[in-house]
Amino acid sequence: MKTIAEGYTKVILEAENPGQIIMRFKDTASAYHAIKRATIAGKGAYANRISARLFGLLADAGVENHFIKLLSDNEQLCQKTDVLPLRVIVRNIAAGSIVRRFGIEEGTAFKTPVYEMNYKSAQLDDPFMNSHMAVAMGFVSYDEMEHISRLAHRVNEVLIKVFADCGINLIDFKLEFGRTADGRLIVADEISPDTCRLWDKMSGQRLDKDRFRRDMGDIIEAYREVWKRVCGESDENK
Ligand code: TMP
Repeated sequence: MKTIAEGYTKVILEAENPGQIIMRFKDTASAYHAIKRATIAGKGAYANRISARLFGLLADAGVENHFIKLLSDNEQLCQKTDVLPLRVIVRNIAAGSIVRRFGIEEGTAFKTPVYEMNYKSAQLDDPFMNSHMAVAMGFVSYDEMEHISRLAHRVNEVLIKVFADCGINLIDFKLEFGRTADGRLIVADEISPDTCRLWDKMSGQRLDKDRFRRDMGDIIEAYREVWKRVCGESDENK
């Protein structure tokens, strides 16, 4: 299978059907623009399965996304899209960069979700971007920007409930969007403990990539815990 693209944590491969791609999740972790890197055996499989389950639940809730089916422990089949060069970050509780940038105390609950956007460019340190810039730079129209906002809002609603039902607080997460061959914008990439902050409701224990970013240890145990709670009986390889 021919490689279309390779990042720090995933490889995108051609699929038999030219309208589809295969996402292969690697066992690598990276943070701070890949200044910090490590191999964590088993991480790829947990991220793959958790993301597959979440995208499946989003589809059930009417949120169109690129996921088609799981292929193996580390691979999933997805619809091929042109992924926009921007990330949408949704925050329910203050953590991570917003704490540093705005001096907000970690753990502060926002009155309404915070939506942020950044431009995907490691070289430029992923600068902040707003909807006017996204339109001005020709990435999307204002109507599409509105569609993206609605999708981000809906994804947050669905995922807050999915995680709450398994005893996890959804603190924040990152979304990416892809344009299909016929021009629709759908949710793409992955949603996993690599791209979300997830805190255990009872203990506040971090169950996400912050364990790697902040050298907290027990990374794979945290991913396994999320997989167990989110995928549960639905996962045939449990
Ligand atoms: P931040 O606090 O570093 O801005 O990140 C907010 C959330 O978005 C956090 O759950 C991690 C996720 N995220 C990614 O998955 N990829 C990225 O490139 C960025 C900037 C954030």
